[in-house]
Amino acid sequence: MRLIIYLDKLTSTMDIAHILAEKGYPHGTVIVAEEQTQGRGRFERKWYSPKGGLWFSIILRSKDLLIQSSFLGIIIGVSVLEVLEKFLKDIELNFKWPNDIEYNGKKVAGILIESIYEKELKYIIVGVGINLLVDPNDIKDLKAFSLRDYITTYDKNIVLIEVLEKLETNLNGFPHNWKEIFNFYKNKFPYIGKGVFIRNKNQKAKVIDMTEDGGIVLLTDNKVQKYEWGGVSLEFE
Ligand code: ATP
Ligand code: BTN
Repeated sequence: MRLIIYLDKLTSTMDIAHILAEKGYPHGTVIVAEEQTQGRGRFERKWYSPKGGLWFSIILRSKDLLIQSSFLGIIIGVSVLEVLEKFLKDIELNFKWPNDIEYNGKKVAGILIESIYEKELKYIIVGVGINLLVDPNDIKDLKAFSLRDYITTYDKNIVLIEVLEKLETNLNGFPHNWKEIFNFYKNKFPYIGKGVFIRNKNQKAKVIDMTEDGGIVLLTDNKVQKYEWGGVSLEFE
C-alpha cells in the first residue's frame, strides 16, 4: 500500500513532507501539489512551480537510509528519466550533473534531497519537480523547458505512479543494479570533455569523467580534482 497525499496549493511539498515525517508518517509517503508558492531548489534557490507541473516529495525511511545521497540522487534521476522516455515524442533528454534533467541546455526536471539527522540519519525527503504540462509561457523567463508539447499523456498521475514504481524497483535492486544505473546516467551525460565554470570558485574547468559513485572529476589549472555528488555547483558550457 502506498500513501499519496494530493494537495492543491501549498508552500513547498518539502515543507509538508518534513512536517509529516516528524509526525511519523511511514516510508514511501508521497505529497503532491498542483502548485507551490515557495518551491525550492538546491541552496535555497527558488523553484518556480506553476500549475501543470508535477511537483512532489517522498519520505524515505528504513533500509533506504543506508544509501548515500550520491547513489540516491542518481537512482532517482535515472528512475525519472527512464519513465519520462516512455512518454516522450520527438525529443531526447539528458542529465546535467548532479541533479537535473534537461533538454537542449534547458532544465526540464530537478531533484532535491534533504536528509535529517538526529545523532544518526533519521529520514530523507526527496523532492522531484518536473515541468510536465506547464504552459511554456509560464517559464519563458527561466532557462527551463516544458514537456507539454512533447508528451504522449496528459495524465500527470500516470507519470507519477510509474516514477514511484520505477524508483521502488531501482531502490530495491541496489546495490546489485548500480553498474547498470550508473551506465544509464553516464550515457546520458553529454558533458564529459566539455568546459564548465565552477560557481563558488569563479574558476573555469574541464569535465574529465564521472566517478563510479556518482561524483565528478574536473581539471583546473593542470590539477585533477574529484567532487562527490552535488559537492560543487557548476555551469555547463
Ligand atoms: P546546480 O547545478 O548547482 O544544482 P542549478 O542552476 O541547476 O545549479 P538548482 O538549485 O538546481 O540550480 O535549481 C534552481 C534553479 O532552477 C533556479 O535558480 C532557477 O533558475 C531554475 N528554476 C526555477 N524554477 C524552475 C522550473 N520550474 N523549471 C526549470 N528551472 C527552474
Ligand atoms: C533543483 O533543481 O535544485 C531541485 C528542484 C526541486 C524542485 C522540487 S518540486 C517538488 C519539491 N518541492 C520543492 O520545493 N522542491 C522540490
